[in-house]
Parts: sequence; structure tokens; C-alpha cells
Amino acid sequence: MIQLDSVCFAYEGHIALRNISLDIAKGETVVLQGANGCGKSTLLKLLNGLVFPEQGRYLFDGQEITEQVLKNSLFSRRFHQRIGFIFQNADVQLFCGSVQEEIEFGPRQMGLSEEEIVQRTEDVMALLDIAHLKGRAPYQLSGGEKRKVAIACILSMNPDVLVLDEPLAGLDRKSQIWLVSFLQQLRKAGKTMILSTHNEELAHSLGDRLVYMNEDHEIASIVRNR
Ligand SMILES: Nc1ncnc2c1ncn2[C@@H]1O[C@H](COP(=O)(O)OP(=O)(O)OP(=O)(O)O)[C@@H](O)[C@H]1O
Ligand SMILES: [Mg+2]
Repeated sequence: MIQLDSVCFAYEGHIALRNISLDIAKGETVVLQGANGCGKSTLLKLLNGLVFPEQGRYLFDGQEITEQVLKNSLFSRRFHQRIGFIFQNADVQLFCGSVQEEIEFGPRQMGLSEEEIVQRTEDVMALLDIAHLKGRAPYQLSGGEKRKVAIACILSMNPDVLVLDEPLAGLDRKSQIWLVSFLQQLRKAGKTMILSTHNEELAHSLGDRLVYMNEDHEIASIVRNR
């Protein structure tokens, strides 16, 4: 489903990804690990079409993802429906006036009927136990609440692939336990997931494969976990 061939990327000359080659199959869960600054978030951004390889290629379902290809708005919309990204910092992805509008935004962009939009929004709010937040302004929520809203927004579009950057960061113990078991359910249901974490426990409990990056921004090793 996802194929990276010798991908390199630098931010204005500052190298962030070096020679990354990785194939991810449909239904697989891959966990990225490595020290601060090794390139995990950059790799996840690249998978989501926010940055592009300077060398090498990124193929999603056989289609090379380039800046040019994503300029096609129809393709871009389809692509972003199929791959959902939850940022390390939820603030950058929440921009609506209320939690409900925020969750409805994706399904509305997809052109679903009003009935379907309302149904999906109710379903994900129930799933994430955030119905009581629906009238609140997202920017006023706590970090953990924002994370749940960000997850709800992505799930409401039912993407084939979920990309999560440090999903446990900033969550209290109870929310962490809840989120780990929630992600385990998604994995069992066959969702393709790619996530980064500094949490060994999460990596081992969730990852089919663990990908370790080193401080030279390369893949140091790939370990099969199950
Ligand atoms: N917007 C940016 N402009 C310039 N350099 C950046 C930018 N974002 C990241 N970098 C640099 O790219 C490298 C990789 O950063 P990245 O955020 O991908 O690391 P990370 O593995 O996610 O780290 P962390 O564990 O702290 O989240 C780092 O050296 C970082 O300083
Ligand atoms: Mg990061």
C-alpha cells in the first residue's frame, strides 16, 4: 500500500530523512521509534503529502505522490480521505468554532448527505466519549481532549490508513490506557496504521513491525514484533 524508495528530505539544507526505504502492507501496523530530531515526524508528514521527497520516491497504492500530483484537487481530496494524519500537536489541526463543526468538517468536504454527516459525527463522538464537548470551542479544550477531538475528526472520514504522531504524548494514564486499547481494536479490525512513539510499551503492544531511526536520519533497523 505504501512504498518508500530511497527517500531523502532536507529542510533548507538541514537533513531530516536519509535514504529511507520502507514498504507497508495493507492492514499492517508500523511503529517508528528513535531519538528526538531523528526524523519521525518528518517521515509521517511525507506519508501524508505535507512534504515531498527530494530524492527517491513515495508511492501510495502504486501512485507516486508528488507536489505536482497533489495540485490536482480531486486527487488531493481523495488522497487525504484515504490517509488521515493526527499531528504531534493537535492545535495545528483544529480550527472550527465548535467540536461538532470540527468533526463534521471532513465528512462535509467529502460531500456526504446531511443525514450521513450527522450520523458519523454522533457515532465518533460516542466512540471517543466526547459528546459532552460538542458545543465547546476546540482551542479551549485540554491537551487530551484536543487529541480525542483530532482523532474523532480523522475517524469520521473512515480513512484506509491512519498516521499518528506521538499519540500518547500529553495524555493522562487513564486516557493512555483507553487510547492503546482503542488503537488495538483498530489494528484487529485491519486498519493500516503508522505511528511514532517514545513509549516502548505502546510500540510492543501495537506494532507488527518496529522501525528504529538513528541520529543520522536513517532507518537503523526493522524488527518484526509479531
Ligand atoms: N520546519 C522545520 N524547519 C527546519 N528544520 C526542521 C523543521 N522541522 C523539523 N526540522 C528538523 O528536522 C529534523 C527532524 O525533525 P522531526 O520533527 O522529524 O524529528 P522527530 O523524530 O519527530 O523528533 P521528536 O521525537 O522530537 O518529535 C530535526 O533535526 C529538526 O530540527
Ligand atoms: Mg516528532
